[in-house]
Amino acid sequence: MNASTSFIFAVASLLLQGLFAEAQIIRWGSCESQNVTVMQNFNTDPYLGRWYEQERYYAAAEAGLTCVTAEYSPHHDGGINVNNTGVDSNGKASSVVGTGYAPDPSQPAKLMVKFPGAGPAGSLWIIDTDYTSYSVAYSCSNMAPFRLVNAWLLSRARDGFPHDAIEKVEKVLRERNIEKDPFEHVNQDGCTNGSNQQRPKIFLASAA
Ligand SMILES: *[C@@H]1O[C@H](CO)[C@@H](O)[C@H](O)[C@H]1NC(C)=O
Ligand SMILES: *[C@@H]1O[C@H](CO)[C@@H](O)[C@H](O)[C@H]1NC(C)=O
Ligand SMILES: *[C@@H]1O[C@H](CO)[C@@H](O)[C@H](O)[C@H]1NC(C)=O
Repeated sequence: MNASTSFIFAVASLLLQGLFAEAQIIRWGSCESQNVTVMQNFNTDPYLGRWYEQERYYAAAEAGLTCVTAEYSPHHDGGINVNNTGVDSNGKASSVVGTGYAPDPSQPAKLMVKFPGAGPAGSLWIIDTDYTSYSVAYSCSNMAPFRLVNAWLLSRARDGFPHDAIEKVEKVLRERNIEKDPFEHVNQDGCTNGSNQQRPKIFLASAA
C-alpha cells in the first residue's frame, strides 16, 4: 500500500469501526477467508433443550445481559423453536423467541435463525458439541470488505464446563480458526433455573 491508499484505508476503517464496533465484532476479510468448518453429522434432536451461555463475543443485542440461556425445542415444520432469555443490568428478565432451520438438509449444522421484527435471519453454525456438556456456536456475515462475527460457548450445566470439556473447546477454537480473545465471560451466578427472575450478584462490564 502506498501512503495515500493506506490513509484512505485508515479513514475507512475508522468510519466502519464507528458504525459497527458498537454492534458486533468486525474483522477485515470475508467469512469464507477464515475457512471455519462446522460439525459433521450434526443431529438436532440431542441438541434440543436448554443451554447456558458461558462466553460470548460482544454483540449489542446481548450487551450487559447475564444469566443467558438458549432453549431449543422442535418446531412443527421440522425446524426448531429458539427461546433466548437473559437478565439486564436492572435485573429485569427478558426473552426473545424465534425459529431456526437448516436451509440445506445436507448441512444440518448450518442453521439460520429468525427473530420476528429483528431483520433478516442470521446464521447460527454449530462448530462442535458433545450434546451433553458443551457447544461451540458461531455466526458470520459478510459486509465487504469486512465481516461481522459472533461466537458463543454454551454449557449444559448452569455452573460451567467440566474440565475435560474446557480442553476440548480450546482445541476446537484453535483448529477451526475461531478467535479466542474476543470472548467475554457471561455471569451465571445467582440465576434461578429457567425463569431467571433473580438478580445476579455480579454484573459484566460492557466491552469497549
Ligand atoms: C484458508 O484456506 C486457504 C486455502 O487452503 C489458505 O490459503 C488460507 O491461508 C486459509 N486461511 C486461514 C485463515 O487459515
Ligand atoms: C437446576 O438445573 C439443574 C440442571 O438442569 C438441575 O440439576 C438442578 O436440580 C436444578 N435445580 C433446581 C433448584 O431446580
Ligand atoms: C421462554 O423461556 C422463558 C424462561 O424459561 C419462559 O418464561 C417463557 O415463557 C418462554 N417463552 C416461550 C414462548 O416459550
